Amino acid sequence: MTKLTLSNKDIPAVAKKYCKLVITEDAPSWHRLVECEDGSLEYRIGAGKWKAMTARKYITFVRTVVQAAKSHQIEHLAIQAPVAMLPAILKEHDSQWILSTLAENLTIAAYEFTMYKSTKSKKKQLQEVLVCGGLSSAEKKAFARGLIVGTQVNVARDIANTTAEDMTPTNLGKAAVKAVKGTKASVKVLGEKELQKLKMGLLLAVGAGTKHETKLIVMEYYGAGKAKGNPTVFIGKGITYDTGGLNVKPSGHMHDMHMDMSGGSAVIAAVAASAKLGLKKNIIGIIPAAENAVSDRAMRAGDIVTAMNGKTVEVLHTDAEGRMVLADALTYSERFKPKVILDVATLTGAALSALGQHASAIMTKDEKLETKLRTLGEASGDYVWPLPLWDEYQAHIKSTRADLSNIAANFSRFGGSIEGGTFLANFAPKKVPWAHIDIAPRMEAIASDKLAKGSTGEPVRLLVRFAEEY
Ligand code: BES
Ligand code: MN
Ligand code: ZN
Repeated sequence: MTKLTLSNKDIPAVAKKYCKLVITEDAPSWHRLVECEDGSLEYRIGAGKWKAMTARKYITFVRTVVQAAKSHQIEHLAIQAPVAMLPAILKEHDSQWILSTLAENLTIAAYEFTMYKSTKSKKKQLQEVLVCGGLSSAEKKAFARGLIVGTQVNVARDIANTTAEDMTPTNLGKAAVKAVKGTKASVKVLGEKELQKLKMGLLLAVGAGTKHETKLIVMEYYGAGKAKGNPTVFIGKGITYDTGGLNVKPSGHMHDMHMDMSGGSAVIAAVAASAKLGLKKNIIGIIPAAENAVSDRAMRAGDIVTAMNGKTVEVLHTDAEGRMVLADALTYSERFKPKVILDVATLTGAALSALGQHASAIMTKDEKLETKLRTLGEASGDYVWPLPLWDEYQAHIKSTRADLSNIAANFSRFGGSIEGGTFLANFAPKKVPWAHIDIAPRMEAIASDKLAKGSTGEPVRLLVRFAEEY
């Protein structure tokens, strides 16, 4: 675990044990480690011209610094808070954004997942990053905020990186309890008996094929006071493993599906962060948690199941399970009288076909909400991009025998992400602003993210900003 601390000193004045990071205007790939006369180390790294440093570049640059320090096995690193050097960013954001983003990205770049390694790495670990410079109290507060958010991103990654055998629906519920421990947030976990009483037929059908009990995890945080104001509701897909069900996934497309609860882990972490930040907002998290398994008790293609809202669904494909569990969670969310609902899910491979792996897809009919999500996406680094939710798509999922089918009734592969969102639109409470976020493209880190392989922990940073600002 890397410790991140603030110092009032300027960088030349810090102790000898620190390797001093000197950021130059050389090309971004340039870097050099030099020994100073007093025996201390100086690490010079190019960041390109300061005036060309955009918010996006800054986010990855901060991560590059940590990656470079790790590869040089630097144990103590000191850096100067770069506020004054970032004129291009200061046109859009304030110095608090710079400090918060610094803390977030130092924290998430330092993360490594070692739970299943039988031996410790012999490499020297990055123990500490000291951020120097006289900061204002608002800047210090922003840095502290960034540490909390970054730490919760890492909590989401820990949960997603854990195997499906260890992160069952029951254990996902326990992870939610652990995440909010010591805060004002509360968690209740409903089991199959309660889900039957609630008539959550879609969630139960998805979880029917496994010995691991299906759960509904409900997190409540009333930072504004329970009677004061309708809550923001986050719903996260919590499929702890997705085999595809009887329409089993081909090999090479299954092993990553222990991360199919990434929407759920992001919601858990976002509620925990909101509570730890003490936001004066009411935030609800709902995570339908199930394993989509293969067995003689699993739902079949061709089965017809009844949702909590009474609509019947023909299961044309057992691998389109995410929208089924989310549908019942959307119906359940009505009882909280939401101000706004965001659902977050690793829903479709088609979202990767549409956007590649640089952004999550958002779908909403609410233009203001769409704009807000795009703006906050930019500010947080969890980038999102819209796809349409036009009524034309509803015809695709009209079933012959039931009300709806869970995939296109003609089995077309076109517009798969939109059909997922369109299915959900049939369950979203009426008249409540709602957006669907398909995070499948951002489930796993890619090289250009400059993060450890595995879960990205997205979109925790976006959800926290949304909780703060909506
Ligand atoms: N969990 C998957 C989607 C997924 C794929 C997430 C790749 C992350 C990376 C989802 O449950 C699924 O299987 N979707 C199907 C939908 C299809 C049957 C309409 C898909 O994308 O193939
Ligand atoms: Mn699936
Ligand atoms: Zn899935």
